[in-house]
Amino acid sequence: MIGRLNHVAIAVKDLAAARALYRDVLGAAVSEPQDLPAHGVTVVFVTLPNTKVELLAPLGTASPIGRFLERNPDGGIHHICYEVPDIGAARDRLLASGARLLGPGEPQIGAHGKPVVFLHPKDFGGVLIELEQA
Ligand code: CO
Repeated sequence: MIGRLNHVAIAVKDLAAARALYRDVLGAAVSEPQDLPAHGVTVVFVTLPNTKVELLAPLGTASPIGRFLERNPDGGIHHICYEVPDIGAARDRLLASGARLLGPGEPQIGAHGKPVVFLHPKDFGGVLIELEQA
């Protein structure tokens, strides 16, 4: 069911420093920071030959990244995102298997303008998984 690794999302407390680290030390192509108010994050996209890394910093007071950084003050991997060909079919298959979704249970429009669902980390080895319609 799952296809390509779309991105790995990394929570950072200092987005400018993280952007410089990926650009200057790791030699990666990085975007300008982009505010995504609907998602409570500011993101820098790191484009790799085979996938992307997203550096996420909190935006606003109710950011999910803010809560993550309270528990993980140095930052860290927040979630990984796999592509699926049909988000509705994927959701139905997961629910039928007993997996839990975070949030309302219906696909929501994610940071790339495509429908996504998030799977409960307790059902997937402690990893927060995002599925995105390819
Ligand atoms: Co994501």
